[in-house]
Amino acid sequence: MSLIDPYQRRIDYLRISITDRCNLNCFYCRPLGGKPGLPHELILSYEEILRIVRVAVGLGVRKARVTGGEPLLRKGMVDFIARLSRSGIEDLGLTTNGILLKGFARPLREAGLNRVNISLDSLDPRNFQRITGSDGLGEVLAGIEKAREAGFQKIKINTVLIKETNEDEILDFAELAFSREIEVRFIEYMPYLNGKEWQRDLYLQAEEVKRVINSRFPLEPVEKQEKPGVAEMYRMKGGRGTIGFITSISRHFCERCNRIRLTADGKLRNCLFSDEEIDLRGPMRDGVSDPELAEIIRGSVQKKPERRPDFFCSFKKCTRTMNLIGG
Ligand code: GTP
Ligand code: 5AD
Repeated sequence: MSLIDPYQRRIDYLRISITDRCNLNCFYCRPLGGKPGLPHELILSYEEILRIVRVAVGLGVRKARVTGGEPLLRKGMVDFIARLSRSGIEDLGLTTNGILLKGFARPLREAGLNRVNISLDSLDPRNFQRITGSDGLGEVLAGIEKAREAGFQKIKINTVLIKETNEDEILDFAELAFSREIEVRFIEYMPYLNGKEWQRDLYLQAEEVKRVINSRFPLEPVEKQEKPGVAEMYRMKGGRGTIGFITSISRHFCERCNRIRLTADGKLRNCLFSDEEIDLRGPMRDGVSDPELAEIIRGSVQKKPERRPDFFCSFKKCTRTMNLIGG
């Protein structure tokens, strides 16, 4: 059984946001700041998420990634990961801001989590504070160490580069990937601010970033990527880690998109940039059967857009901010 969309893409990757809450307040992700989180009854229970995953696995989904908000904030998440890892998912990942990772790395590994990606936009404590509103950089760095000690391999760091904000840290991040077995992925700043215009003048193109890195660490493309994902990968001559570019703006990769997303409040999104959502929570609470649930998921995949909108002309701001979708 497999989920094939109208453009012949095989959808086998489900991203699951388990909470809208976050312990950081990155200015580009939560533009409305500390709005109260969604009431508990609107958030899917772990039971409900696991049911959706079981049905999705029956449809051919093999990879899942748990996101937030900040997923480590939700109570009982280690046990949830343990159950998820036994649900037929073969590649189970987590994306976290790393603040709480120190204490969670080992239990998560033992629970069966395969991979962890860490969002980190600055290696400088003052800049970290300016971007996130938190002085937790040390905690994140300690979390990365613990994740390595716990046996996570291929740790990825996600760095959103924003002009006038962290562009002066490009080489520091490159240095980190040079000296450690870490994959640093630079993400182009995407328009995702509801209620506010995208600060387009802050957008930094991946090509410019490559030029900066090349001036110090000559980049060589990784020709055959083991599991091609959203990033264009490079090695640095003599370096231990790798560098990736997620060029959502300058060069989209919709033709190889294999993902659907489940929001914390139980909506299925078939594209990061489309507000078209299909509700699963309502039907599940009204008693739909598993085959009916499977039909709803299929229906969402059948409506998956061929490609993302053109940000520079027709882009309508999404009504959800990133913390509600999980990236
Ligand atoms: P891997 O399993 O390691 O490949 O993880 P991933 O890259 O799928 O997930 P992660 O949560 O680490 O996402 C990295 C960045 O890519 C985030 O900033 C996401 O917002 C962005 N991203 C993830 N999926 C998509 C997508 O479908 N389209 C676009 N444009 N960006 C995405
Ligand atoms: N542009 C690019 N990446 C973003 N993220 C959140 N908001 C944006 C944005 N506007 C990233 C986070 C994290 C991932 C899940 O999404 O930094 O790495």
